[in-house]
Amino acid sequence: SAGQRYEAEDATISQGAAESNHAGYSGTGFVNGDNVVGSYVEFTVNAASAGTATLTLRYANGTSTNRPMTIDVNGTTTTRDFPGTGDWDTWADATFTVSLQAGANTVRATATTANGGPNVDYLDL
Ligand code: GCU
Ligand code: CA
Repeated sequence: SAGQRYEAEDATISQGAAESNHAGYSGTGFVNGDNVVGSYVEFTVNAASAGTATLTLRYANGTSTNRPMTIDVNGTTTTRDFPGTGDWDTWADATFTVSLQAGANTVRATATTANGGPNVDYLDL
């Protein structure tokens, strides 16, 4: 379960917008990134202590095409798949094991294809 939830609509959005026209989101909405390479949502997450942690990103992809994103944590980048969830009202969890430092950590999710990334609801630490 979530220790701390970071809503995407409260994060830093580059090439995208907070929207609420699909059901089932947490908070006041979700982020719809522009369907371009490089659109991103960047979270600043706070860790009590340094070490390995599990992050959960909740997303929806109403298409049948995978929408990969890079997940960059304090400059360490991995690429993850975000396959279709059936429709834009259906949300799924993607989990990542990451290395965090004590205090503020930057987690950026960036679309890597011209299809853009999925819609992003939140990041849980
Ligand atoms: C639709 C949908 C958006 C989504 C977009 C997309 O426009 O309403 O929420 O972000 O498709 O294909 O990325
Ligand atoms: Ca989009």
